[in-house]
Amino acid sequence: MARHLITSAIPYINGIKHLGNLVGSQLPADLFARYCRARGDEVLFLCATDEHGTPAELAAAKAGQPVADYCAEMWQVQKRLSDGFRLSFDHFGRSSSPQNHRLTQHFAKRLYEQGLIREVSETQMYSPTDGRYLPDRYIEGTCPNCGFDSARGDQCDNCTKQLDPVDLIEPRSVISGATDLEMRETKHLYLCQSQMKDELEAWIDSKTDWPILTTSIAKKWLNDGDGLRDRGITRDLDWGIPVKRGDEDWPGMEGKVFYVWFDAPIEYIACAKEWVDAGKGSDWQRWWRTDKGASDVTYTQFMGKDNVPFHALSFPATILGSREPWKLVDYMKSFNYLNYDGGQFSTSRGRGVFMDQALEILPADYWRWWLLSHAPESSDAEFTWDNFQASVNKDLADVLGNFVSRVTKFCRSKFGEEVPTGGTYGAQEEALLERLTTRIREYEHHMQAMEVRKSAAALRAIWVDGNEYLQEAAPWSTFKEDPERAAMQIRLALNLIRLYAVLSSPFIPDAAAAMLAAMRTDDTSWPDDVPGGLDALAPGHAFDVPEVLFSKITDDQREDWQARFSGARD
Ligand code: 2FM
Ligand code: ZN
Repeated sequence: MARHLITSAIPYINGIKHLGNLVGSQLPADLFARYCRARGDEVLFLCATDEHGTPAELAAAKAGQPVADYCAEMWQVQKRLSDGFRLSFDHFGRSSSPQNHRLTQHFAKRLYEQGLIREVSETQMYSPTDGRYLPDRYIEGTCPNCGFDSARGDQCDNCTKQLDPVDLIEPRSVISGATDLEMRETKHLYLCQSQMKDELEAWIDSKTDWPILTTSIAKKWLNDGDGLRDRGITRDLDWGIPVKRGDEDWPGMEGKVFYVWFDAPIEYIACAKEWVDAGKGSDWQRWWRTDKGASDVTYTQFMGKDNVPFHALSFPATILGSREPWKLVDYMKSFNYLNYDGGQFSTSRGRGVFMDQALEILPADYWRWWLLSHAPESSDAEFTWDNFQASVNKDLADVLGNFVSRVTKFCRSKFGEEVPTGGTYGAQEEALLERLTTRIREYEHHMQAMEVRKSAAALRAIWVDGNEYLQEAAPWSTFKEDPERAAMQIRLALNLIRLYAVLSSPFIPDAAAAMLAAMRTDDTSWPDDVPGGLDALAPGHAFDVPEVLFSKITDDQREDWQARFSGARD
């Protein structure tokens, strides 16, 4: 049995994610995890919230909450929404977990012992009033370029000029408004990634099967000299993982925490320990340590393209630099961006549809199908309400939903609510089986390769085949002169419903479950042998006519939603 470790980039804790975030990592990761499970593989699928850094601190301050409380609450919100979208994580962890604290401090110790961490003295803004150093985003002042009076220490939002806090005119603390800021000398830790360039380059070069999007970004950062610059891995923040070497204090690092991008990917590992500590698994090292059973694991990561440098360079530098036998990623699937109705999704401006809003208006499967079948793989993609309405109505309602409804209702009216007996396959059926076999192998091939759009197209073609067969076989006509033949046709079609449920469950798990329930079966065996798979429901097997699987989106609904989501959310 193949073993798959699958991780999705872990979403920042500050705020509810939009559909562009969802399709950029968590949703395709879920598709792949569900597919691997459906094929009988052993899967550990992990995700978590990314809870450290200035954005978390600032969001908590804005919400008027202690940051730990804010994160605990937002974790609940994100967990509820990921459940709502049927993201089938084996564990949804938190980067602020004690497990991640320990592991991050452990990695820091190992890297230090390997000579890969050095201390660097820097000058940084200090606020005596606040009693702390201020990160760039905690300082505001007047932009020297355009005169905007609320420019941040790292960038002016008005003219977009990149700034240093020292450039600001009349800088002040965002926390207290204090203006008595002074430059003070402080020490930080740097990860010596540059020492690992050759090793990382050889490793990336060995990944000849990775998607071009991933390798092109990784190589760009590797070769332009900037990607592997030694980087500061500590920050002067209150919230985060305290800088320690294992259990020991780190002299000179009192009051400092690790940089969020240092501890976030380590959470992929810590999350497996959280999973065990939560009583859901028994051995996390079997997934993560090659000396403890993980050498036969295939590890796949999913992420948006902006995350590639951290996953392809910084995190592997941490893992390799530890000189311990941790599992490295085998395949890195990255995505372009999804845009929204003529512009960009934007969390800060509340533009687009967010996960909570999406579930308020339609069930998860509608979104899952559209997002996955339009995943931004080879280029950026765009969500428009027209396109959403058209795909849902055509693919889900007309093609799949209608097939299920016609077959079950026709059977009920002519043969009753059980699989009819009699008749044998003819040429039409043999041709259908052959066509389906080819298509299903094609579908498996794309799913295995994580080609999300191609997989969706292959699945849709399988649904269309069933409809075309039904149209040609026309059991409603056959029934008049040859009821036995009509019985055989309908028996095949009822079996197709079960087959469709099994094949479609990675994309639309709720509809798939409803189809299986209607067929009164829990036989989810994958059709390795297609003709055999279409014999699963034997003559006499009882079924129910299901409720409508997918309702069509009306023009009124489309217009209403388009208007409702055209501005910023409150
Ligand atoms: O871009 C993001 O949403 C980050 N929170 C992803 C972190 S992925 C990882 F490194 F853990
Ligand atoms: Zn400016």
